[in-house]
Amino acid sequence: MLEKLLKVQSLIGNTPLRTLNFDCKLSVKMENANYSGSIKDRAAFNILYNAIKLNEINQHTLIVESSSGNFAIALAMICKQLGLKFIPVIDPNINADSEKILRMLVEEVVKVDKPDITNGYLLTRIEKVKELCQQYPNSYWTNQYGNPYNYLAYYHSLGKEICNHFERLDYIFIAVSSCGTITGVSKRVKEKFPDVKIIAVDVEGSVLFSDVPRKRFVSGIGASKKSQLVEEASIDGVVHVTHKELIKGCRTLLSEQGVLGGASSGAVYAAIKKYFTHHPLSKDMQVLFFSTDKGDSYLSNVYNDAWVERVLHQTEAPIPAIMLEVPVIPNGTSL
Ligand SMILES: Cc1ncc(COP(=O)(O)O)c(C=O)c1O
Repeated sequence: MLEKLLKVQSLIGNTPLRTLNFDCKLSVKMENANYSGSIKDRAAFNILYNAIKLNEINQHTLIVESSSGNFAIALAMICKQLGLKFIPVIDPNINADSEKILRMLVEEVVKVDKPDITNGYLLTRIEKVKELCQQYPNSYWTNQYGNPYNYLAYYHSLGKEICNHFERLDYIFIAVSSCGTITGVSKRVKEKFPDVKIIAVDVEGSVLFSDVPRKRFVSGIGASKKSQLVEEASIDGVVHVTHKELIKGCRTLLSEQGVLGGASSGAVYAAIKKYFTHHPLSKDMQVLFFSTDKGDSYLSNVYNDAWVERVLHQTEAPIPAIMLEVPVIPNGTSL
């Protein structure tokens, strides 16, 4: 299996960088160019690679994971190459197209429909994953919210690519969900650029950075459970965006920069603009963010006027613009 897996490795990472027109040097790393179309390929590969190496997975192991989209697709595509059976546990926030792709990739998809106590679905999905693991004795839960190989993927690949490319770096804005990306990238990049500011971008209603739990409407950003991984991260600030700002961010990222990003990329673009209305920005500053998946999968939601109107009617009063500033999470303490 390892040989087959290493063939996939050459299709993950070393993604292109684009320079955008902005009031500073703004670059976007096109993580949608990865094997299955998202930044989550890096985590999926690394978790499977290490579990196979440690003999925690054999050819008959059932892989199980809770994901509302990209991580499930990444695992499904890699498991297909390896001939491994995979059951994703998804929820109603998944994009219609992502669900269709997933159902064509794997034999069985489990879709939960009961919101958890936070009005999200993550806790319900995790309960389902645990049930499946009990039902199948030879099963392996990749556990993106607790598996250190998630963040180590970003430490060893994305973080390293960034360090190799840049000579100066002032800010990186990173959308958060499992917090694998922000943890791995922040750890690695601060080794070369100790003064770089790492800004987490979260969506209203997500509990990751202590917002009041509320219903969320998009996948790829936010969570209804705090991630264990973030304890290892080095984060300098958090920007929360509302659904309205996220949607506008997606649309302006496309109209101003020609980047068709997904929900989290739009959220980050909105967060960058919001952040620099409160903080000084100069022409020579180098700011980086990631286009984390393909915007095409969001044509039925954030780019669809009827969906937007429905969702904006349901969202509650906007939350404060910037909730927390330096320093947010001391290493080794939980939130
Ligand atoms: C499109 C997209 N952007 C950002 C993220 C957040 O990445 P992480 O889970 O590493 O925090 C995800 C996670 O699912 C994602 O799918």
